[in-house]
Amino acid sequence: MKIMPISMPKDIDKYFFNRTKDINMINTQLSTVKFDIPPQLLITGYRGVGKTFLLRKVLNDQSDDILTSFIDLSEIMGRQKGNLTEEKVLKALLNAIDETISQNKKSYKKWIGKITSTIKKLELKNYDFSDNVNVFDIPIPVISDNYDKLSKFVMELPQKIVDSSNDITGFIIVIDEFQLLKNVEDPEAFFWLMRSFTQKQFNVGYVFTGSVSKTADIINMINGQEGAFGGRLIQINIEPFTFDETKRYIDEKSNNLKFTNEGFERFYNCTRGIPLYINSLSSILPNNTVCDEDIIKETLLLNIDQVAIMWIYIWGRLSQGEKDFIIYLLEHEGATRATLDKQLGYSKSSVTRFIDSLSNQGIIEFSQNKKFVLADKMLQFWLKIKFETAGCYPL
Ligand SMILES: Nc1ncnc2c1ncn2[C@@H]1O[C@H](COP(=O)(O)OP(=O)(O)OP(=O)(O)O)[C@@H](O)[C@H]1O
Ligand SMILES: [Mg+2]
Repeated sequence: MKIMPISMPKDIDKYFFNRTKDINMINTQLSTVKFDIPPQLLITGYRGVGKTFLLRKVLNDQSDDILTSFIDLSEIMGRQKGNLTEEKVLKALLNAIDETISQNKKSYKKWIGKITSTIKKLELKNYDFSDNVNVFDIPIPVISDNYDKLSKFVMELPQKIVDSSNDITGFIIVIDEFQLLKNVEDPEAFFWLMRSFTQKQFNVGYVFTGSVSKTADIINMINGQEGAFGGRLIQINIEPFTFDETKRYIDEKSNNLKFTNEGFERFYNCTRGIPLYINSLSSILPNNTVCDEDIIKETLLLNIDQVAIMWIYIWGRLSQGEKDFIIYLLEHEGATRATLDKQLGYSKSSVTRFIDSLSNQGIIEFSQNKKFVLADKMLQFWLKIKFETAGCYPL
């Protein structure tokens, strides 16, 4: 039986569909890492559009002379109690680098001696060795009082690894859910720190990605005129599948789903070509039945929680103010800043906070007609159905 997964599968290639153009575009940028030009990318796109899946695939497919590490900041946030700090991010980076090296034990053995001595030379004095972070089996310091040294050590390590091996020509590091970096103590300073090191790491490429809307202020903070990377990050937006791509995807990967023409149009309209929704709706449609408009409508209505599951989770973590903001946009089909200031019933500074937080989570976006609107149709649909069936919005 064919499956269309709704979470990250182990065997990426088995389920991955298409994206040839995006892959080529990203790989073209990344390939400069071999030629002493450090690539720096920012990958944006709607929630569930497939950014994480795509970057996992891109990393998997790199040639053997390129080392890769993938860091998901949401995992660190989830795993650790308390706030995300600069130290935690750096340690996560360190652990990811170590994991990369350890996976490749065979070639790693060839240059372990050299790397180890390089690391030993990076001053490790005066550190507390109690934490369980290891690189190449050398215990690495917990830095409580020496953030400068930790950051220097971690940020310089990938280039040192490249330099110490003839077989390795580059190191690519993906930082997923990078918008969470906004939660560290001084995000601006942290971006500047990364920038200052990345500039001198000629064979180390960084890719930032996350669920953040194109107009979020975090993008400005990192890549705007005044931002640390000042427009140097090459921004690539991942688009949903087109109508035709969705059709081919269903033909190729679904478990024999069949549609009437109108049925398929409805299906595309509901999912908007976003793979997460395509996969979750596909998984509950009857197979070996030709699905018409009514079947799609019914199935979605009855199973909306299953298709919109991501939003149930996100909704639960929003503040009442943020929920009120979203409901206002839903009921008024968007609103200008002036209207929100006047009508929402919150102070201007609260409205600013809601806008920042919701756009940094990819929930709202600023449309061309200067209104804030909800970025995701499935969220709108879920809220509407909940309101219609329960008489009130979800708490
Ligand atoms: N190219 C693809 N082929 C097949 N399935 C895909 C593809 N891209 C994404 N998917 C499916 O959609 C799901 C969501 O994708 P993914 O988690 O990569 O989205 P995302 O853009 O990273 O979302 P978020 O912003 O919430 O992190 C994946 O688990 C996968 O099942
Ligand atoms: Mg993702």
